Amino acid sequence: MHPDIGLELGARVARAVQEALDVRISPAEALVHPSARADYQCNAAMGLGKRLGRPSREIAELIVAHLAADDLVEPPEVAGPGFVNFTFRAAWLSARAADLVGDPRLGVPPVAEPRRYVVDYGGPNVAKEMHVGHLRSSVIGDAITRMLAFAGHEVIRRNHLGDWGTPFGMLIEHLASLGTGTDSGAELSIGDLNGFYQEARKKFDADPGFAERARKRVVALQTGDPATLALWRGLVAESERHFAKVYEQLGVLLDADDSYGESFYNPMLADTVAELEEKGLTEVSDGAVCVFPPGFTNREGDRLPLIVCKSDGGYMYASTDLAAVRYWTRERGATDLVYVVGTPQSQHFQMVFRTAEAAGWLDSSHRAVHVNFGSVLGEDGKMLRTRAGGSIKLADLLTEAVERADGVRAVGVGAVKYADLSSDRQKDYVFSWDKMLAKEGNTALYLQYAVARVNKVVELAGVSTVDAPVLVTHDAERALLVKLLQLPSVLAAAVEDFAPHRLCGYLHETAAAFSVFYDRCQIRQARTDELRASRLVLAQLSSRVLKTGMGLLGIEAPARL
Ligand code: ARG
Repeated sequence: MHPDIGLELGARVARAVQEALDVRISPAEALVHPSARADYQCNAAMGLGKRLGRPSREIAELIVAHLAADDLVEPPEVAGPGFVNFTFRAAWLSARAADLVGDPRLGVPPVAEPRRYVVDYGGPNVAKEMHVGHLRSSVIGDAITRMLAFAGHEVIRRNHLGDWGTPFGMLIEHLASLGTGTDSGAELSIGDLNGFYQEARKKFDADPGFAERARKRVVALQTGDPATLALWRGLVAESERHFAKVYEQLGVLLDADDSYGESFYNPMLADTVAELEEKGLTEVSDGAVCVFPPGFTNREGDRLPLIVCKSDGGYMYASTDLAAVRYWTRERGATDLVYVVGTPQSQHFQMVFRTAEAAGWLDSSHRAVHVNFGSVLGEDGKMLRTRAGGSIKLADLLTEAVERADGVRAVGVGAVKYADLSSDRQKDYVFSWDKMLAKEGNTALYLQYAVARVNKVVELAGVSTVDAPVLVTHDAERALLVKLLQLPSVLAAAVEDFAPHRLCGYLHETAAAFSVFYDRCQIRQARTDELRASRLVLAQLSSRVLKTGMGLLGIEAPARL
């Protein structure tokens, strides 16, 4: 039995096709999918008809005649030009339900060949507040790591903090001038990280003496001057405390152990660039060491450089990313590098990947993927901003979310996260409080209500867990059970495409199927004891599927609402 019920049926159809037509197709090519017309539908006859030059309806009838699936489905019907409609047998559905009840993984098989995924997400910058742009990376990345781990892969969470580079000269110099040294051992506390950054910037622009000292600080930092390093550490630690608070508020699994900031790769940069040079991949252009990966040009057709070392010897964002690829594949045995970063950095990552391939740091055993995402827009369709036009701080946004959810944290934070996860990540999405906090629709609250409802029914029934056969006596039971059996295939697709929105869509359909079942089928007042027990089991299964799915998205389901 294949865990994916569509593929199980597909395998049977493929066998029928082989027997009837002497054509070999895979279970996936049998095109068996959930359908509004029946439980599942096979759409392969049309393609096969074309391929063999025969009427597709005739092909569909041949498939049905040769199909050996009596145990699974009722005698199938051929409709229209050659659709084959399937209705599962009630007994077969009941048996699958029994499998689910006894399976903590709800039918989801662990992957046959686990890989070592390194997922780069979060990525905030030191001495700056996290903004909504970092929301998407944190929330999407977190869901992806949870889904990968559940699928059975090894997952390393990696937070690429912006904690190094020339801006630190002015930040450290500013900190030093405030006299808030860290030598006292006291923790540095900057109430307003953005304000601190802006003050440093202002001084840098207005005061040439300060600017000069800031430049010297960069050198001091790079050469490891102890006093400068201590100030830098204070700044990083203060920022990390701020990030940790936001991650906790968000329920994102990133913690201090997952921090691999840009500074982490600093000792590897010289070797990385030297290796690129040795391999003949670099050219000096305007004094800077560059790689020109093939296929990247600007509008004028000029080749685009990936600058790895500036003329003054300084390194770049790209140098760090190249050193990181080299480190993770060579030193840490990563097989899959996943970068959850906004779409504007697409070209950067493609150039880094091509360069790493040319250097041999990525080969056919590896996969590097930029899991890109669009922007968060306000209801006016422009980038989300405060009324005053400033960028919105993530912490403020989450506070407001919880306020709007009458102080229920799981509801407020869940709404924000779900709104982000439920839209196709590649698209921009409009941030709307009313929409995301609605009780109906594809929202976190809709799922949370379904779970709370099950808890209520079970509580009123006065049982804790029931173990009884699930009977299929009503269309609403059938539709719900068929949905519950689709978790393995949906999860496989969501993992494959790094697409949490697919899991959201499925959970919404499941909650909707539950709601129809709840409205149409008496649970506690069912006709017989067997039916009552059966429906309680079905309700509990629904809740387990919903909670498991929500858990993979990092969304909590409160026991009651
Ligand atoms: N700190 C960067 C930013 O705020 C994101 C880092 C993404 N990760 C990476 N390996 N480059 O844009």
